[in-house]
Amino acid sequence: MGVFSTGGVGIDLGSANVTICLENEGIVLREPSYVLTLRDDIDEIIAVGRDARQMLGRTPRDCTLISPVMDGAVGNIELTTALLKRLAEKALGKRRALEKNRLVVSMSQGATRVERAALEEAVRTTGARRAALIRTSVAAALGAGIPIEEPRGSMLILIGGSTTEVCIMSMNGVVAARAMRTGSLALDEAIMRYIRREKKLIIGQRTAEDLKIDLGTAVSNPNLSRDKVALRGRDAISGKPATVEITAEDIHKAIMPPLEMLVENIRDAFENIPPELAEDILPQGIYLSGGGAQLEGLSDRLGEMLKLNVMVHENPQDDVALGACLAASNDRLAQKISLSGCLIEV
Ligand SMILES: Nc1ncnc2c1ncn2[C@@H]1O[C@H](COP(=O)(O)OP(=O)(O)OP(=O)(O)O)[C@@H](O)[C@H]1O
Ligand SMILES: [Mg+2]
Repeated sequence: MGVFSTGGVGIDLGSANVTICLENEGIVLREPSYVLTLRDDIDEIIAVGRDARQMLGRTPRDCTLISPVMDGAVGNIELTTALLKRLAEKALGKRRALEKNRLVVSMSQGATRVERAALEEAVRTTGARRAALIRTSVAAALGAGIPIEEPRGSMLILIGGSTTEVCIMSMNGVVAARAMRTGSLALDEAIMRYIRREKKLIIGQRTAEDLKIDLGTAVSNPNLSRDKVALRGRDAISGKPATVEITAEDIHKAIMPPLEMLVENIRDAFENIPPELAEDILPQGIYLSGGGAQLEGLSDRLGEMLKLNVMVHENPQDDVALGACLAASNDRLAQKISLSGCLIEV
C-alpha cells in the first residue's frame, strides 16, 4: 500500500447538511451546507461548512453566506464543488487523498435534468479517482438496511431539511416516487411565525430549529404545558430585546399545520400506488428516514394517521451517507443499483 490508502467515501449532499461516511470508519463529519464568499466576488471562497456559518459577520471584509444546495438541488457548480471537495478532504484527513478514493454522492429525487447535470459536473471536478451519483432514497434504504433487493415493494419516507421523498423500492430500484420541496425547515418557519403572532417576539431560524429539536413533538399530551423555556428575542412591536415563556404545547401547536400537510401528502402518495405494491407494504409497514424523522413522536403520529407500522432506523440522519458509502465500497452492489438506473457513474 502506498502513502495514501484507498477506500469508499459516501456523501449526503443535503440542502441543510453535508454528511460524510468513510469505508471502515462510519460517519466522520456533518456540517451545514454553507459557503462563505466575498459579496462582490462570489468565486472568492473564504470558508465552507461550520466555519462559514461561524465566520459570518466576523470577517473584516464584506461577505455573504451561500447555500449552494438549495432545495436539495445544485445551484452553483463552482461553490458546490468547493463545498464537496473541502469537506471531503477534511473528512479524509492527511492519511487519505480524494484522488485515491471512490466517491458516491447522493442525488435528490426531485432534481431536474439541468440540476443533475450540474451535480455531475461538480462531483467530477472534485478529482476523486472514481465517482458516481446515487438516488438519495436508494442510498437511505441501503443505509437503513431495508431489503430493497427483494422482488417485493418497500416504502420509505425521507424527510430532509427542505425536501421530502416518498418512495417505493423493489429489486434495487425505484418503482414509484413522489418528491416534495418541503421538509423539516417548514416546521422552523411555522415556529417563527407562531411566536411572532402569539407571543409578539421575533426570533431567528436557528433559534426556531433549537426549539423544534428540544421541545417539539408530533403527539399531544397533557404535560406539554409544563415543559417550558425562557426565550430571548426582539419584541415585535418595540423592537427592543425581550424575553417570553414558551411551552412545548406552543411548539406543538405551531408545527401541527405543516405536519398535517405532510401527512396528507404522504396519504395521497400512498393512495396512488398500484394495488400489488400496496399489498406488499401493508403487512410490512413503512420506513422513515432523514433528519426530520427525528422529531419526537413523528413515527407514532404517522403510524396512527396512516394506520401502518412505521419504523425508524437508529440514526436516521446518517442513512443516506451510510448507504452512499456502502455503494462506494462495494462494486457488486453499485453495479446492481446502476442496472436499475439509480446509480450513475460520472
Ligand atoms: N432531533 C430532531 N428533531 C427534529 N428535527 C430534527 C432533529 N434533528 C435534526 N432535525 C432536522 O432535520 C433537518 C435536516 O435533516 P437532513 O440532514 O436529513 O437534511 P438534508 O439532507 O440536509 O436536507 P434535504 O434532504 O432536504 O436536502 C433539519 O431541518 C433539522 O432541523
Ligand atoms: Mg437529505
